[in-house]
Amino acid sequence: MDLSLISKTADLLIASNHAIVLTGAGISTESGVPDFRSPGGIWEQYDPAMFFYERFLANPNEVWEALIDMHGNSDFTLWEAQPNQGHQALSYLEEIGIIKTLITQNVDNLHQKAGNKNVVEFHGNLLFAKCLNCGAKYGYQQVLKDVEHIFPPVCSCGGTLKPDAVFFGEAIPQKAMIESTKEANLCDLMLVIGTSAQVEPAASLPLIAKGMNNMLIGLANIPVMKTHCSVVEINREPTPLTGAVSDFLIQGSAGEILSQIAERIKEKKR
Ligand code: APR
Repeated sequence: MDLSLISKTADLLIASNHAIVLTGAGISTESGVPDFRSPGGIWEQYDPAMFFYERFLANPNEVWEALIDMHGNSDFTLWEAQPNQGHQALSYLEEIGIIKTLITQNVDNLHQKAGNKNVVEFHGNLLFAKCLNCGAKYGYQQVLKDVEHIFPPVCSCGGTLKPDAVFFGEAIPQKAMIESTKEANLCDLMLVIGTSAQVEPAASLPLIAKGMNNMLIGLANIPVMKTHCSVVEINREPTPLTGAVSDFLIQGSAGEILSQIAERIKEKKR
């Protein structure tokens, strides 16, 4: 872990006017929630092809069976997981007014559990299920109880319930899309934490921050206002952004790095 880059990032955060964060599954692995593409990750245990929107519509039973299996699988502590020191550091940075918005690809609700208020859920939230017919939302725990006698789970209106996480081929919730694009366009610092940056359109947000990808801004009908912006990656390993989009990568554990950054900021603010 490069201590000079930790100090540099603490200085960038203190000097920033509009710092935002983009997180991926890597920030939750230290809470016991596996990520998707690391060895032993979710896509090694469950076929991602099953989590395409069209496939769910054609056969909801198959996906609900996998989700119930996942819930019963001790490897997936998603529903009982607790925030780790990385989540807590980001909550502190929002509390002292440095982080303005946290965009997460994660569906585990851990940023909200850690206390972050301004969270944009780019891929929804797996703690809820939503009716495909009327849009009503149900708590996931309740649905998992209901499925013991109603399968697949249905809404009181009779519509099929779908987990409220965004599936492949499913539209990003419009509000999240516009909010994230605006924030990426506005920010003067973006921390990109624990994401392999392989899934669009989330992977384009750091490019928008750097003023390199104005297509999405056009789609969201936002004028390009890009001034200089720093993009700092925190990841165990380099990603497609490293050396191409991000200014630098702090390589190592997100939890340790983020808590060290928060400590530096506390020291500097004393
Ligand atoms: N500290 C730092 N980095 C970590 C840690 C950790 N403790 N654990 C894992 N990582 C890194 C991995 O090295 C990898 O680069 O986090 C990244 C996780 O990448 P993915 O598993 O691909 O997860 P993510 O980028 O969030 O996936 C994006 O893909 O399958 C879809 O909808 C799903 O939101 C998800 C999207």
